[in-house]
Amino acid sequence: MSHIKIVDLVNNTKTLQEVTAKGWVRTFRNNQFIALNDGSTIQNIQCVVDFENTPEEILKRITTGAAVCVKGTLVESQGAGQKVEIQVSKIEILGDSDAEKFPMQPKRHSLEFLRENAHLRVRTNTFAAVMRVRSALSFAVHSYFQQKGFFYVNTPIITGSDAEGAGEMFQVSALPFDNTPRTEEGKVNYKEDFFGKQTNLTVSGQLEAETYAMALGQVYTFGPTFRAENSNTSRHLAEFWMIEPEVAFNDLDANMDLAEDFIKYVVNYAVDNCTDDLKFLEDRLAQEEKQKPQAERSEITLLEKLNFILENNFKRVSYTEAIDILKNSKPNKNKKFQYLIEEWGADLQSEHERFLVEKHFKCPVILFDYPAKIKAFYMRLNEDGKTVRAMDILFPGIGEIVGGSQREERLDVLVEKMKALGIDEEELWWYLDTRRFGSAVHSGFGLGFERLVLFVTGMTNIRDVIPFPRTPQNAEF
Ligand code: 4AD
Ligand code: MG
Repeated sequence: MSHIKIVDLVNNTKTLQEVTAKGWVRTFRNNQFIALNDGSTIQNIQCVVDFENTPEEILKRITTGAAVCVKGTLVESQGAGQKVEIQVSKIEILGDSDAEKFPMQPKRHSLEFLRENAHLRVRTNTFAAVMRVRSALSFAVHSYFQQKGFFYVNTPIITGSDAEGAGEMFQVSALPFDNTPRTEEGKVNYKEDFFGKQTNLTVSGQLEAETYAMALGQVYTFGPTFRAENSNTSRHLAEFWMIEPEVAFNDLDANMDLAEDFIKYVVNYAVDNCTDDLKFLEDRLAQEEKQKPQAERSEITLLEKLNFILENNFKRVSYTEAIDILKNSKPNKNKKFQYLIEEWGADLQSEHERFLVEKHFKCPVILFDYPAKIKAFYMRLNEDGKTVRAMDILFPGIGEIVGGSQREERLDVLVEKMKALGIDEEELWWYLDTRRFGSAVHSGFGLGFERLVLFVTGMTNIRDVIPFPRTPQNAEF
């Protein structure tokens, strides 16, 4: 008999049937009760072992972490906390696990400890729940765009350009590290490298996506993105996943509408489809909150927070208005929010963003029309000559979750801008062709997938929402 997933056993299967289940032992109590989990759900199934008729040799091998196959009858459970259980008639040990050595003991481990065991941490309830929610959100991303008639584009991972112009790239080379060919002036001779030019891992698929939007109309990417920014924060990864829609003929307002609708769709999908996992994560978060001093505790639960996002419009505010709000804000007790921002034109720090979202507006905020100087070269210049049609979406507890803009579609203005910033026109000849041949208004944005997963799961460190995090000094797995 083939085995049945535990998620189906606990939800769908009629009792008094003979069933076979396979999974990993979470706990084994009183030589009798196995809590078995196969990863298909947060729920364990209780398997009641007939210990009098099971050889001692086998009982000893039912240890936390072991893989087992149980056959038996599915019956209504008398115990609290579960509807059904398996009355085991036969148990087979598929893979032993030394109880002394298995790092995932049935107790609460610190997230730091679990990070050091990224290959095993997914066997804990917390990480299994997070990774199932992550998977559901990935599906929702594709389902949203596909339903709306967007085409999925795979932009290159290895590129010759720096899409953001921020110089935060990991170089890719096939040249021997110790013996790199040099030019006469001592510079690396990239002509002799694999691609015949300097290449790097992509920091964004936007520029290539733009070329596709100018042919297919509505496109999106969803792929790995790499940034060599040395920021060791709970919001930054060196390798993260980004979703980048790009739409021909959309202006900034339409871009904001799309971003808000998209985020609400995927959050709603998780709320509807990850009920058990989100409930578990909600309880987990509530316990974490209890450890905090009263004043710092969040008053709302995870699901209340998610529902709040679904039910309320994001507040749209220009950068200039935001600066006025910040300038006029009263210092709080720690003087933390008193500003810091003296000048129009300064980039917002995460404290400013948090103030706007968490203290002032108390809802997600879309900030738009930023000073041109603090944004990337490709954003459309406004008539005032000093701001660009940029938008950032700021989320409570997360900060920036989306960065996007209406793109500069005018060739002359774009070239001028690139010159001013020292960006080589020759390098981006193909990008400029979109403006030479049939240029049109178009817009897009990038959503950091891990920041979305952070928000939906209520986890607080970005390292805990991606299977194998890449951060400075950390690429163990
Ligand atoms: O604001 P960013 O840099 O925008 C772009 O890359 C544009 N090309 C996107 C576009 O318009 N198509 O990055 C977009 C988002 C950020 O808002 C953030 O959510 C996420 O990507 N992000 C990171 N996430 C994790 N770790 C990092 N180091 C990140 N850098 C950006
Ligand atoms: Mg940004």
